[in-house]
Amino acid sequence: MSSPTPPTARRTALVTGASSGIGAAVAAALVERGYRVFGTSRSPEKVAEPITGVEYLALDLTDYASVEACAEAAGDVDVLVNNAGESQNGPIEELPMDAVERVFRLNVFGAVRLTQLLLPGMRARGHGRVVMVGSMLASFPLAFRSSYVASKAAIKGFSDATRREVSPFGVGVTTVEPGSINTGISERRTQYVAEGSPFEADYRTMVNTLNTNEAKGISAEKVTATVLRAIEARSPRPLYAVGSNAPLVFALRRLLPRSVMLRIVARKHGLR
Ligand SMILES: NC(=O)c1ccc[n+]([C@@H]2O[C@H](COP(=O)([O-])OP(=O)(O)OC[C@H]3O[C@@H](n4cnc5c(N)ncnc54)[C@H](OP(=O)(O)O)[C@@H]3O)[C@@H](O)[C@H]2O)c1
Repeated sequence: MSSPTPPTARRTALVTGASSGIGAAVAAALVERGYRVFGTSRSPEKVAEPITGVEYLALDLTDYASVEACAEAAGDVDVLVNNAGESQNGPIEELPMDAVERVFRLNVFGAVRLTQLLLPGMRARGHGRVVMVGSMLASFPLAFRSSYVASKAAIKGFSDATRREVSPFGVGVTTVEPGSINTGISERRTQYVAEGSPFEADYRTMVNTLNTNEAKGISAEKVTATVLRAIEARSPRPLYAVGSNAPLVFALRRLLPRSVMLRIVARKHGLR
């Protein structure tokens, strides 16, 4: 077993999905703070704006062999940011099961497998941080987003339950739930709505609001500040949320009955 990492040692971070958006911003901030940073992409050679100081590794989270190869290539990792994700939309009746399975593979199972592979080293060294990038939609579920909401609720469940397993070994596990963040994710969202769908009108109303909110959302750099808090806190909290008026809406969530809260979320997206 290796001895605990001295506090002055240079820490290594692995950020999944570092080719754009929140992952790129987090990777850049960690380089600035002196970490050795591995950032992942399915196609590292095609990263549009590579960040100086980030070492890119190939990772497809839907493929366990790729997850294992990535963990092996990264070696000892002190900080894991499970950020990569697919945003998916569609009425539940019309979501193809292979799409639902893919979103869970990517947003949940791949991240869980990577975490499993990196936790033993963190434990042995007596220090580590795992940050799951969830979504505020897991706390505020929205119609036509069921597969995505469920995947982000699932990763939060893994995070919450794992905390006490590894905290005695100096390892902190946290979920960061972003609200609407202006990363261009709307253009990359997968959508499944059948032609002539009975949900078409409501679906379009919801999507238009969603895309407008994202375009008006806060920057990836603001989310990064929260991810850094989770990484650098002596005792990271189980959950941090950022964007979409998080402090106010989480306070309301504690006060309101669940049915009222769900209705407000729907109304905020144009659904009566
Ligand atoms: N933007 C928002 O409003 C918002 C709100 C709440 C939560 N989030 C969450 O925040 C995270 C980052 O979102 P973002 O807005 O920054 O999105 P983004 O810019 O679209 O980034 C997604 C990242 O995931 C990677 N990725 C996609 N498919 C992958 C796969 N199969 N295997 C491994 N990596 C894969 C992409 O890398 P390659 O394409 O290079 O492989 C990309 O770097 C996601 O988990 C998202 O759900 C975003």
